[in-house]
This record gives sequence, C-alpha cells and structure tokens, in this order.
Amino acid sequence: MADSVTFAGTSKRERYAELLPQLASLVDGESDLVANLANITAALRACLPIASWVGFYVTRAPNELVLGPFQGNVACVRIAFGRGVCGTAAAERRTIVVEDVDAFPGHIACDAGSKSEIVVPIMTGGRCVAVLDVDSYELAAFDAVDAEWLGKVAELAATLRW
Ligand code: SME
Repeated sequence: MADSVTFAGTSKRERYAELLPQLASLVDGESDLVANLANITAALRACLPIASWVGFYVTRAPNELVLGPFQGNVACVRIAFGRGVCGTAAAERRTIVVEDVDAFPGHIACDAGSKSEIVVPIMTGGRCVAVLDVDSYELAAFDAVDAEWLGKVAELAATLRW
C-alpha cells in the first residue's frame, strides 16, 4: 500500500480524481475491513478540506447502524434505519445531500457545529452494509459532484470484505 496520499488539484473534481486511484492502492492486498475503512476516512479527510467529519456507520444488527472508523469529533454510536440522514439513506438505499441540516426533519446533531452533510449507502448484493457520512461546518458544502464521486468511493468500499 501507499504510505501517504497527496493532492495537487484545487477543484473538487480534480482532487476526487486524484483520490480514487490512491484509495485503490491503499486497500490493495489488505483484507482487514477496519483497517481499510480507517484509511479511507483519513484519505477522504485529506482530500476534502471542507469536511469537518468523515466516517462510516456499519450495519450491525438488522436495521441498525453502528459507528465505524471515522475522522473528526466523537459521534453518536447507534442510529436506527430510518432515523436521521444516515438512517434514511440506509433505509431508502440512496444518496442524500443536505444543504442545511436544520431543514432536514429528524437530523441527528452529533456535532452542533455541523451545517451540511452528505450520506452515501454502500451496497453489496442489494443490501446496505454501511453508509459513508461526510459533514461540514459550512452550509451547502456538498453537491452533485460530491454525490457522484463519493458514489465511486462507496463502490470501491463495497468491494471490501464485509
Ligand atoms: N447527522 C447524522 C448523524 C451522524 S453525525 O453527523 C456524525 C444523521 O443525521 O444521521
């Protein structure tokens, strides 16, 4: 695996394009899920300066997400499917971009400073095995570009050993 991640691009698209091959290299040949998820969160945090929190919630009990590897402040541990942005993305198996968390009914405020958020489900065999959650202290930090590229990150994550 590579021992560092680097980004030369200034635009989001450029940085995501640089991220993907580095993520593939990071997880190449490593079978440990926790180690791989942990490195993905660190690389994503380095890629996205606007992110205040990057992490995974993993489906453990049926219809319950449990906090997994993350970068940022301590966070809520358990989220039921259908609750908050994470639980809604898991239950509905779709990416959710929230420009203003105060406008999302049921948003779970782990960090009072968080203002916007994107959550992407990780699907294997039709099942949501986890969600990737990225938060920001800025309003409307995430858009369709993030949804597209974080979707690619989720596809890569889906190839790991769940
Ligand atoms: N805001 C999320 C909870 C997780 S934290 O943001 C890390 C939600 O509403 O599901």
